[in-house]
Amino acid sequence: MLLLSGVAESLSHGLQKSCGLEIVSSHHKLFPDGEQYIRILSEVRDRDVVVAQSMYPNQDSKAVELYLAIEALQGLQATVSTVLIPYMAYARQDKRFLKGEPISVKAIYAPLRLFNVKRLVVVDTHSHDVSALVGIEVVNILPHAYAIKKAGISVDFILSPDRGALHRAESAAKAFGVSFDYLDKFRDRVTGEIKVSPKDLDVRNANVAIVDDIISTGGTIAKACQILYDLGANKVYAVVSHALLSEKSIEVLSKAGLTKLITTNSVKRQINLPEWVLEVDLSELICNELRRAP
Ligand code: R5P
Repeated sequence: MLLLSGVAESLSHGLQKSCGLEIVSSHHKLFPDGEQYIRILSEVRDRDVVVAQSMYPNQDSKAVELYLAIEALQGLQATVSTVLIPYMAYARQDKRFLKGEPISVKAIYAPLRLFNVKRLVVVDTHSHDVSALVGIEVVNILPHAYAIKKAGISVDFILSPDRGALHRAESAAKAFGVSFDYLDKFRDRVTGEIKVSPKDLDVRNANVAIVDDIISTGGTIAKACQILYDLGANKVYAVVSHALLSEKSIEVLSKAGLTKLITTNSVKRQINLPEWVLEVDLSELICNELRRAP
């Protein structure tokens, strides 16, 4: 199998090493009017190529690049049966919350089917069943238990900051045989403001891991963290698959007093990480999935 890699360098190296994938060489440039150009330079005829694409930052241009790459590979008679998108941008808009909105995840990823892609491998996409919207098999890898093990921390309780995301807490809690629960989060769909309601949880002196898919502003994790400290938790970890960190969100999380943020290399970093943030390499976990035939 070959790999056309548009993912974070650490993940790309890890995938080459763990899966023994050879890298497809390509040339990319921007035309003066802003359109993208891609040319595949490797010999790929009759080979199976995994196209791995990071969808952050520059989500929109990454989507265009993905489809140009698949079309170019197929034009050279390569097979593209698997696409790997570690961070699935646009996945939070998985329904029409307000009249007149698009189902963005469908609009962005449904074209994969037109290219005859059989399987989309993703890491912790927002809603756990997007296959029906995308129209092809979507393999959703949940990395929280793996990341907690790699971080070598000990947790007594797992918390989801949102009832809709309880599947994450449940799956991680099962791996460690600990209790789990959720908070009630409400997002104002017009202003974007979030409220997380306090709840009586049995976490006094416990080491708690809040598990979630994405950090954007850091507001959700900061609010959940505050509730846990108010209830007497000892250590509060956040285990978040895709930390889209900015200087601002780092400040918000730092003020909340998180013991540690454990995240992954699903996205390319835009800033240097402070020492209380640990980035876990997902290549082995992803490789196990890629080895399975679609
Ligand atoms: C939303 O439902 C997601 O699961 C995350 O909880 C959310 O994107 C986090 O965003 P923020 O860091 O801005 O609170």
